[in-house]
Amino acid sequence: MTLGSALGVISVLIFGMGLVEGVKAKNFQCDAVNQTSLPCLPVDYSKFELPMPTDINKISISAYIDEVMHVKEDDYSITFSCYLNVKWSDPRIHLDRDFGKEQAGVGGKGSERQTILVPVTLEMVDELWLPNVFIYNMKEFKVTNVLNKQAGLWIGTDKSILYSQAVHITFMCPMNFARFPLDTQVCKFQLGSYSYSDLKMMFETEMAGYSPPKHTNSIPLDFEINISKLSLADQTYIAGSLGNFSLAGFELVLDRHMASYLLGYYLPTGLFVMASWIGFLIPVEAIPGRMALLITLFLVLMNIFNTITTITPKTDGLTAIQAHFNNKSLDLVCEIFMGSHMN
Ligand SMILES: *[C@@H]1O[C@H](CO)[C@@H](O)[C@H](O)[C@H]1NC(C)=O
Ligand SMILES: *[C@@H]1O[C@H](CO)[C@@H](O)[C@H](O)[C@H]1NC(C)=O
Ligand SMILES: *[C@@H]1O[C@H](CO)[C@@H](O)[C@H](O)[C@H]1NC(C)=O
Ligand SMILES: *[C@@H]1O[C@H](CO)[C@@H](O)[C@H](O)[C@H]1NC(C)=O
Repeated sequence: MTLGSALGVISVLIFGMGLVEGVKAKNFQCDAVNQTSLPCLPVDYSKFELPMPTDINKISISAYIDEVMHVKEDDYSITFSCYLNVKWSDPRIHLDRDFGKEQAGVGGKGSERQTILVPVTLEMVDELWLPNVFIYNMKEFKVTNVLNKQAGLWIGTDKSILYSQAVHITFMCPMNFARFPLDTQVCKFQLGSYSYSDLKMMFETEMAGYSPPKHTNSIPLDFEINISKLSLADQTYIAGSLGNFSLAGFELVLDRHMASYLLGYYLPTGLFVMASWIGFLIPVEAIPGRMALLITLFLVLMNIFNTITTITPKTDGLTAIQAHFNNKSLDLVCEIFMGSHMN
C-alpha cells in the first residue's frame, strides 16, 4: 500500500466518523423523529444559545440530601450524597399536543392544568442546551454509576426540563476551631452560573434538605447537622465588572456534640486538680508524700494532654480545650511549688 492510498483510507475513515457524528447529533431533531409522542428539537435549535436570549433564564435547584458522609477537619471538607436536580425552561422544544397525556392517565384529575413531567431518554442531554453550573469551593463531584450514569431527564408539558443526578459532592468549608470542642461551623454550599450574570440567569433554591421522610443524618458524626437557607447576602456573588451572579444553595450548620469532650477531658482534669488539693491535708513535714501525689497527677494530666493534641484540629492559636488544659496544668504546677516551699 502506498502512502497516498493509506492517507486516502484514513481520510475516508475520518470522514465516515464525521458522518456518523452528524447523524447522531440529529437523533432528536423534529424531522428525523416520526413518533408523535416524543419531544423533538427544531432544525434551527442550537445548544449553544440561551433558551431565552433576551430574557432572564430561571434555573431552579433542588438538593435532596441523602446523607452527610463525612466532615474532614484536617482538610476542611464536607462530603455528602444527594440528588441534585436542576430545572429550567426551554420554550424552543417542540412538544406534541398529546404530550404527557399518557402519563396523566385517562381522565386524570386536573391533568389539564398541572404540569406533568415525562421521563425521556438521557441521551437527549447531549443535544440540549445545559446551564453552565458552577459549584463554589467544590473539591469533588462524583456521579455514581451502576450500569450507566445515575441520572434522569424529564420534560414537562410546560416545556420545562428537569435533569437529576445522584451525586457525591465534596466541598471546602473554612472552619474555625478556636472554640473547639464548643464550636459551631457554618458551611455554605453555593452554586451559580460560571459566566452569565443575573441579567441573563437567575438561580433559585427550590428545596434543600434531607430527602423526605428523613430529617437527620443516619451516620453518626461528631456534629449535629442543620440545613438552612442561604442568607440574602449569600445569594449574590459580586464580581465587579463581570456583573452580579445569582446563587442558589444552602447552609450546613454543624453543631459539635460536646458531651463526650466534657465527660472525657474537662471533667477528669477538673477532678485531678480537686484531687491535688488533698495534698494540703498531708502534713507539711511529709514533703515527699505531697510531691508524690502532685507529680503523679501532673504526669496523668500530661498523658491526657497528649491525647488532646492528637484529637484537636489545627488552628492558628490555642483551642478552647487546650486553653482550659493549660490552665489546669498551671494550677498543678503552682501547687507543686507551693507544696515544696510551704515549710
Ligand atoms: C412519518 O409517518 C408517516 C405515516 O405515519 C409517513 O407517511 C411519513 O413518511 C413519515 N415521515 C418520515 C420522515 O419518516
Ligand atoms: C437544629 O434543628 C433542630 C430541630 O429542627 C433544633 O431543635 C435545633 O435547635 C437546631 N440547631 C441549631 C444549631 O440550629
Ligand atoms: C450588584 O449588586 C450591588 C449591591 O447589591 C449593586 O450596588 C450593583 O449595582 C449591582 N451591579 C449590577 C451590575 O447589577
Ligand atoms: C485561663 O486562666 C485565665 C487567667 O486565670 C482566664 O482568664 C481564662 O479565662 C482561663 N481560660 C480557660 C479556658 O479556663
